[in-house]
Amino acid sequence: MGRVAVVTGGTRGIGRAISVALTEAGHTVAAVYHGNDAAAAAFTAETGIATYKWDVADYEACQAGMAKVAADLGPVDIVVNNAGITRDGTLMKMSHDDWDRVIATNLGSCFNMAKAAFPGMVERKFGRIVNIGSINGQAGQYGQVNYAAAKSGIHGFTKALAQEGARHGITVNAIAPGYIDTDMVAAVPPPVLEKIIAKIPAGRLGKAEEIARGVVFLVAEDAGFVTGATMSINGGQHMY
Ligand code: CAA
Repeated sequence: MGRVAVVTGGTRGIGRAISVALTEAGHTVAAVYHGNDAAAAAFTAETGIATYKWDVADYEACQAGMAKVAADLGPVDIVVNNAGITRDGTLMKMSHDDWDRVIATNLGSCFNMAKAAFPGMVERKFGRIVNIGSINGQAGQYGQVNYAAAKSGIHGFTKALAQEGARHGITVNAIAPGYIDTDMVAAVPPPVLEKIIAKIPAGRLGKAEEIARGVVFLVAEDAGFVTGATMSINGGQHMY
């Protein structure tokens, strides 16, 4: 059964692959983006998937944006909280703004989006929320106290909200990607990235489509008993 799905950060990287995979699975997707208008326009031209522009770190913007999506496409039954940024640096060099931006965008967004989507899901007795965490939220990462804290928070948020949603037919799960071949990972300095890849048992970066595959599974009608789970997709780099 096709449902309406919102994918944050849905026009680039992992989010793009999720938007495409959910569309191929028969869902109607709204891909939310914030910064890159040119990438969003190219994405719609290539895929035909609708895009919506708002800042997921902004609570009011999430309320307004989700209301617009529902008015345009229908009730939102699936939310994929994928939008995320990095502001890497050791603690000594990290600014307060680097901390705040990453926590607000990567973790605050999950709260903002759930607040907008959850009441309707409860009313309709169906919902699927998938939060994209990270291997670095499970294992930590040098130079990422902000990102690791936000992603680790996502895993706790997922387990707590799963307990609240279960009796309403709402599942809340997380995927913890490892190092995936995206612009975000390409920004890691090459010598550092080489060392990281050397530690991945699969011997390569993951593909965005390999994360999307997990999302399609978790949002399926017959995945209703899977909730509060974290699916690690990381080439064997960290078994948690
Ligand atoms: N463990 C221990 N020591 C380390 C280390 C590690 N993992 N990495 C670096 N160091 C040491 C270095 O050896 C160096 O020591 P010396 O001065 O004694 O030689 C010292 O720390 C400083 O290292 P850098 O030169 O790298 O420091 P920098 O300030 O220039 O850069 C950094 C720091 C920005 C954090 C840089 O190391 C970096 O970009 N690291 C990669 C962080 C990373 O993996 N980010 C992931 C982004 S992708 C993502 O987040 C997606 C996802 O979910 C997986």
